[in-house]
Amino acid sequence: MSLNEDIERWLVREQADFHSLRLGNSEARPHVTLSYAQSWDGSITTAPGRTVVLSSDEGMQMTHQLRSLHDGILVGIGTVLADDPQLTVREWTGADPQPIVLDSQLRIPASSRLCQSEHQTCWVLTTQATGAARSGCELIVVPGDDSGQVHLHKAMEILYRRGIRKLMIEGGAAVITAFLRAGLADAAVLTVAPVFIGGYNAIGPLGNTDTLSCPRVTTLHSRQLGNEIIVWGRLCYTHAAPPDTTT
Ligand SMILES: NC(=O)c1ccc[n+]([C@@H]2O[C@H](COP(=O)([O-])OP(=O)(O)OC[C@H]3O[C@@H](n4cnc5c(N)ncnc54)[C@H](OP(=O)(O)O)[C@@H]3O)[C@@H](O)[C@H]2O)c1
Repeated sequence: MSLNEDIERWLVREQADFHSLRLGNSEARPHVTLSYAQSWDGSITTAPGRTVVLSSDEGMQMTHQLRSLHDGILVGIGTVLADDPQLTVREWTGADPQPIVLDSQLRIPASSRLCQSEHQTCWVLTTQATGAARSGCELIVVPGDDSGQVHLHKAMEILYRRGIRKLMIEGGAAVITAFLRAGLADAAVLTVAPVFIGGYNAIGPLGNTDTLSCPRVTTLHSRQLGNEIIVWGRLCYTHAAPPDTTT
């Protein structure tokens, strides 16, 4: 089985299992996949705001395949300002996911490619109730969290109500970290490029006091793609304590 078939079978099953197991759960939300490319030392770029291409053509194709397996794709405003992404499926077949930007202060430029698309209206999740409209964007007001940023649990409820069941998070670091911190990331697909960068790490502080409360990969898969390693798995936030061997 090719890597593309392998990963697709796994992810489709994960997404279906997530929703069948959560039937009746009071917090209805999409299944969330984190996907990004990092160096061997865990950097996603040399410095915040810089664009660095880490994936090979094959790795990029897999990213586009993953996009086709989600109905929404979300990035932070930092990524929009740095990379001006399109977030469409171009290197694979399938429908484009709904583009979504986390942008509390409404900094998205009207000239960004997400606002200029002829095919999709970008959803901008913001806390600014009186923000000026942008053509090509739909502003969705979400309550703020303690630091005034978009409240992620409430944002997930809103996206679910709007029909998003499978959400892909493509970065950047602040957003990936925030989803892990909130316990809202259910799966991760990482491309590990054969380079050391020593730059901006994908994951910032998660607020854990011990490794027991860290998000953990419970079903681990890996394949080599050229010189890159693709790793993927399910994320779990509750762990049994290791057996007590002190008695
Ligand atoms: N290697 C890869 O796969 C990859 C992928 C994507 C991006 N990147 C790189 O990553 C860099 C951008 O990452 P970044 O960390 O600077 O920015 P980011 O994660 O893309 O966006 C962060 C911004 O999102 C907004 N936001 C709104 N609600 C939030 C919430 N609840 N939690 C967290 N953020 C929230 C905040 O701005 P407001 O407070 O103004 O809303 C925050 O500053 C770029 O250099 C880009 O090239 C790499």
